[in-house]
Amino acid sequence: MKVIRCKDYEDMSRKAANIISAQVILKPDSKLGLATGTTPIGAYQQLIKWYEKGDVDFAEVSAYNLDEYCGLSHDNVQSYHYFMRDNFFDHINIDLANTHIPNGENLDAEAACAEYDALVKEAGYVDLQLLGIGRNGHIGFNEPDDVFSKGTHQVDLTESTIEANSRLFDRAEDVPRQAYTMGVQTIMHAKMILVAATGSDKAQAVHDMILGPVTPKVPASILQLHTNCVVVADEEALALV
Ligand code: F6R
Repeated sequence: MKVIRCKDYEDMSRKAANIISAQVILKPDSKLGLATGTTPIGAYQQLIKWYEKGDVDFAEVSAYNLDEYCGLSHDNVQSYHYFMRDNFFDHINIDLANTHIPNGENLDAEAACAEYDALVKEAGYVDLQLLGIGRNGHIGFNEPDDVFSKGTHQVDLTESTIEANSRLFDRAEDVPRQAYTMGVQTIMHAKMILVAATGSDKAQAVHDMILGPVTPKVPASILQLHTNCVVVADEEALALV
């Protein structure tokens, strides 16, 4: 694991964007694994600026998102489909037909997960997977568990994740209780993994991811076993490392 210490959120966002744009410049038809949440928004904004300046071109890129809430329509403002268009896809020249997100509108969990798994597998997995990290060490919506998950599956969100996500909803009751997420094994197939972390509330999870034992109780700890994993984090998130 390579750890890049950043001054603050802005510095972390620029460095994350630099790594993603280098990937796309070196391989214009890159398959990018993308994340939602507040952490990557700054990196997406930076990439949009560089796209507008003509420094990076997404015409041949395809994208595979980590997760989606179950039961929200794609145009629901709280859905990850909406988030990705609003924060990134609608502002760059990616072909929307090449953007993929688990289908939260399909309530047949088995079919929805099998379909997404097949898609990611047929693509040969992603070149670069961008990840945020939950306060409890989750990646994607892979919550602490007794075993590491494998492929795309449906999860019941933990109270801590529901509470953390409720800041984005009008009422806590509106936060969906279930989601579809890529599994840990699928994430580990990425050729490169880029974890972004910011803020003191992530300090314990970042410590455990980098220095703790590899355990499904801290899903991100498995990233210690990936041969090409880079962590970009600000001082606050790295306070315990
Ligand atoms: C998002 C995702 C989640 C978030 C994590 C951190 O697609 O899969 O694992 O990366 O919950 O969220 P933020 O960045 O909002 O702190």
